[in-house]
Amino acid sequence: MPNPHTAAGSSTWQSGCVPALSPSRVLVGPTIRLRSIRSDDQPALRLAAEDSAIQKYCFPNPEPTEVNKEQWVRLQLHPSDAQTARFAIADHEDEALYGAISLHIEVGKPTIAESGFWIAPEFRQRGFALEAVEVIVDWVFRDLEIERMELFIDFDNLGSQSVATRAGFQHHGDVSYPIPTGVTRDVQRWIREGVGSPS
Ligand SMILES: CC(C)(COP(=O)(O)OP(=O)(O)OC[C@H]1O[C@@H](n2cnc3c(N)ncnc32)[C@H](O)[C@@H]1OP(=O)(O)O)[C@@H](O)C(=O)NCCC(=O)NCCS
Repeated sequence: MPNPHTAAGSSTWQSGCVPALSPSRVLVGPTIRLRSIRSDDQPALRLAAEDSAIQKYCFPNPEPTEVNKEQWVRLQLHPSDAQTARFAIADHEDEALYGAISLHIEVGKPTIAESGFWIAPEFRQRGFALEAVEVIVDWVFRDLEIERMELFIDFDNLGSQSVATRAGFQHHGDVSYPIPTGVTRDVQRWIREGVGSPS
């Protein structure tokens, strides 16, 4: 069955990898679209990098230094590859950037996908994060061979936990999550199971 959230367009896909999305292929929800992150998103990304919640919960290194802000902006702009796709969460009509969501498939674990997301402060509490997660979940369970989606969320991140609950995820214990700074971070593991059915 074709995915109602997937706009027409071609993609290449191989098991265990994130599909390559072309600029003409976007994922759409009722009020948002997920598109590639573009270089003209840089001003909005730089503004988002000033937000203390994004610094705390999304930066690889949460210290809000200029170097770490720039590193995070560069990470957002990094092109998607076989293991990680990054999407702008954008306005359905004018494509203005509200936030971003990523999808990661670990090498050797082709049926498990992890997602992370953020919404710029001025666009929060309007349902955009929930809608983006729902679009991604629907896509991976319908079109990819993914059987389980995972989210890793800080203990005090009630907003993200609320998004996870509303998107049908369940809290499955706590884990030490490795971050690029070489240390680990204790976080909650949230899971949503589905049945992968590649089209
Ligand atoms: C967490 C975050 C993504 C939520 O985005 P959002 O677009 O405001 O969330 P939504 O509007 O889709 O809200 C979905 C649900 O979560 C609830 N929610 C959102 N933020 C909340 C908060 N701070 N505290 C409690 N509940 C919250 C909403 O009320 C809504 O629940 P409801 O439908 O029952 O009312 C956003 O606050 C953010 O980007 N924070 C900083 C970065 C971050 O934490 N990223 C996640 C890392 S795991």
